[in-house]
Amino acid sequence: MRQKLAAGNWKMNGTGADLVELKALAKAQSTAKSEILICPPATLLSRAAELTRDSAVSLGAQDCHAANSGAHTGDLAAVMLKEAGASTVILGHSERRADHGETSAIVAAKTTAAWAEQLTAIVCLGETLAEREDGSTLKVIGNQLAASLPKGATGENTVIAYEPVWAIGTGKVPSLAQIAEVHDFLRAELTTRFGAEVANAMRLLYGGSVKPGNAAEIFATSNVDGALVGGASLKSADFSPIIQALDAS
Ligand code: 13P
Repeated sequence: MRQKLAAGNWKMNGTGADLVELKALAKAQSTAKSEILICPPATLLSRAAELTRDSAVSLGAQDCHAANSGAHTGDLAAVMLKEAGASTVILGHSERRADHGETSAIVAAKTTAAWAEQLTAIVCLGETLAEREDGSTLKVIGNQLAASLPKGATGENTVIAYEPVWAIGTGKVPSLAQIAEVHDFLRAELTTRFGAEVANAMRLLYGGSVKPGNAAEIFATSNVDGALVGGASLKSADFSPIIQALDAS
């Protein structure tokens, strides 16, 4: 009932020359069952939109400001990202939380701003290694979820991405039991807060060192509806087998 979602986060990687990868991906995955989303740097969105028009690949941004316009040098508003071709925006990625001091309250304000422009928000949550080791993972995730998601979340306007900070770009992946524990917990928390209908419609992605070699087992894990992929989304040859594994799950 939930359409699977393979989302690629290019982070601060990619110039015009890399759009060939997007073109190759759109060609290779034209019959994919899963929804495919690529979030390139905002500088590439307009050109990426031209390239992916009428294809199976949709586009997202990696952040937006909570305000619609104003004196915020260097920031981008949801309305601008939408105009450039984004249907979705990643919010509260751990790199934004760490590098830019984004609190869950800021993430919630950005989510509201994204919804106002009909952008789907991919809201990211995840514990640090210290938090995992001291046994506070579910507490941390629960607090982030409660404070990052405003009232009004639905399965259409929101996707949750569980990305353990220690698994991002490290080649380390939690055990399947650890992933299942967090994803089952997220579904239960969403049910308590928003009701079963909304909770059951919302996609829960896993992110952190997803590769062609581990994708199938991750996608077979309880309450995993797809992935948010960093490094392995940069090349069509790496991302395509991940999408195929999702289609087959
Ligand atoms: P990697 O897939 O490179 O570990 O990155 C995950 C991530 O942070 C996606 O948002």
